[in-house]
Formats: sequence, structure tokens, C-alpha cells
Amino acid sequence: MAELMPQIPLIEFSALPAHRGRRVCTAGLDLAVFKVGDAVFAIDDSCPHAGASLSSGKLDGQKVICPAHGLRFELGHSCAGSTPALEAKKHAVSVVDGMVMLDPNTVTPESILSELT
Ligand code: FES
Repeated sequence: MAELMPQIPLIEFSALPAHRGRRVCTAGLDLAVFKVGDAVFAIDDSCPHAGASLSSGKLDGQKVICPAHGLRFELGHSCAGSTPALEAKKHAVSVVDGMVMLDPNTVTPESILSELT
């Protein structure tokens, strides 16, 4: 039986800005972390379209808008748009004692899909 890997601390929840993301590079990962209300989300920072940093994108509710060309990625759930979609990998995160923790043992059920504006 494989041993579980420990959770990885990413950032203090209180350090996440409202309506924007924060780039977090740790444990070989380059992540965009977002706070939406009391919820937290983490996706790969590199936009699957042309590599722009999604952490510098703006939030529209639970959607992050890529700053380069405007693709939108739904953070909360998989959302197949009406157009062919690009995928951004979503990571399992939770808040433990005020710290955003990444769980490397949890395989997220899906990547999040883009939709055109
Ligand atoms: S790089 Fe993100 S939409 Fe083009």
C-alpha cells in the first residue's frame, strides 16, 4: 500500500487578495490560487492557450479571466463551454488553521475547461 504524502502548505488564506489570484510556486508546482468568499481554488498558473499567468487574471464570480486573450475558466466545477475547450489542471486544496493546503494524494476529478467570452 502506498504511503500518503503530507499536505503542502501554499499560502495563508488571509494573504489571498479579493477578486484576484496569487501565484504560488512550491514543490515543483506553479499555481494560481484564488479566494472566492470562503472558498479557495488552485489551478495551474499557465494558461493552456498560450501560457499567460492565470494568477494575474481577474475574477468574475467563480470564473477567472485570462489576462491575455480573455478565456474564462470556471473554478468551481467543470463546465464544458459551447466551443472546443482548453483545460487547466485543478488541484485539491483546503484551508487548515488559516493555511491553504494542497493535498497531493487527491486526484481532482476533472480539469476545468475554458469558455470563450
Ligand atoms: S493565453 Fe490565456 S487566453 Fe490566450
